[in-house]
Amino acid sequence: MTLDYVNTQNGQLMIGHFTAKQLADRFGTPLYVIDEKYVRNQARLFKDSFTHPILSSEVIYASKAFLTLAMCKLIQEEGLSLDVVSGGELYTAYRANFDMSRVYFHGNNKSEEELRMAVEFNVGTIILDNESELDLLLPLLSQPQKVLLRVNPGIEAHTHEYIATTKNDSKFGLSTADPATLALIERLTREPMIDFSGLHAHIGSQIFEAESFYKEAETLIHFIFDHRIPVRELNLGGGFGVAYMLEDQPIYLSEFLGSLLEHIFLTLNSHSLPNMKIMIEPGRSIVANAGTTLYTVGSTKTTINHKNYVFVDGSMADHIRTVLYGAHYTALLANRVDDICDTKYTVTGKACESGDIIIKEAFLPTCEKGDILAVFSTGAYHYTMSSNYNRLPRPAVIFVHDDHVRIVVKRETYQDLIRNDIGE
Ligand code: LLP
Repeated sequence: MTLDYVNTQNGQLMIGHFTAKQLADRFGTPLYVIDEKYVRNQARLFKDSFTHPILSSEVIYASKAFLTLAMCKLIQEEGLSLDVVSGGELYTAYRANFDMSRVYFHGNNKSEEELRMAVEFNVGTIILDNESELDLLLPLLSQPQKVLLRVNPGIEAHTHEYIATTKNDSKFGLSTADPATLALIERLTREPMIDFSGLHAHIGSQIFEAESFYKEAETLIHFIFDHRIPVRELNLGGGFGVAYMLEDQPIYLSEFLGSLLEHIFLTLNSHSLPNMKIMIEPGRSIVANAGTTLYTVGSTKTTINHKNYVFVDGSMADHIRTVLYGAHYTALLANRVDDICDTKYTVTGKACESGDIIIKEAFLPTCEKGDILAVFSTGAYHYTMSSNYNRLPRPAVIFVHDDHVRIVVKRETYQDLIRNDIGE
């Protein structure tokens, strides 16, 4: 038994209509494989489910999870908007001809250069994190700019400390409990070049409790009501968790998303507040389960304490979440999926670091040199968090859609690695 989005046939792992082995042979390993159909289905699920008969709504893809030119095009085709958080993400969207009016520019320390770029590109909405960003932005404007203010409603969602964002000491946004936040909102509503459209919050990532999102929405609505804040748009951020392991139980999105909107509608009504547009920013829940990393097994080793290692041709440089967050992953041998998994391995890679762990404990058949090891749920925060540690070239990224396959990011070469070095 394995994760429900994993397909196997005749002892082989299938991705689209290809065996993983075929993809590995053709494109090499390590390889990030994205099932394009899965991504499109997730995007549609969000678009179709996050709707309400009266409230308007918008789904904004959080591009930090996974971004390339091809991904921007896909997101545009599926009718989602785009959240970018840096000049680099903004530039990628621009170069992909993404509709800039549907871009939301985030970040807690936007530079003047990044803000200028956003203004030049006519970015639809800038999400201000603090007052100094406003002071940087104002001199750059020649026409009114739509902005949201990021606030911190102090909700504690159960997730890893590094991906929880609204504890009271979080670096993001301004606390709803701080009077200075109200003073800034007041200023935003008075600035002639600022079209203040509302509030943004994001309570963390990989969240499994629907309750946290209801609480977030209620807290924000009470804040708006208590202080009579003129809000047209309320952006609740992302954070919907996904299954990395069989026991993970994500929120059932197709029911939850509509219910959340209905709850917001009723809460607004009961406070006699006007209807407002509600937005969400899913990242991980759109791409994580669409991604599989394929590795080739090199050697194995058993220590004198009987610990079994399987060495693959990738590393923490393409898979940082295990060592960074203690994240757990599911794997199997893609070319021998029906073989009995009777050996406990630690899956590790090539990096010169004891923390170079891809999976701490994986039950697999006895691994042989040349086997293809597939690690699931690597579509989000893998390619985007990859590095060149040990001068390891980044893997290629391919999109598979049924019987179509295309490279969307080329494998890095050694030449790429010295591209910016001076001294040849
Ligand atoms: N909106 C804002 C303002 C965010 O900060 C984030 C994520 C999202 C949306 C999307 O959250 P998602 O739906 O993907 O959970 N590198 C970490 C995750 C960091 C998330 C940061 N912000 C990881 O690998 O788990």
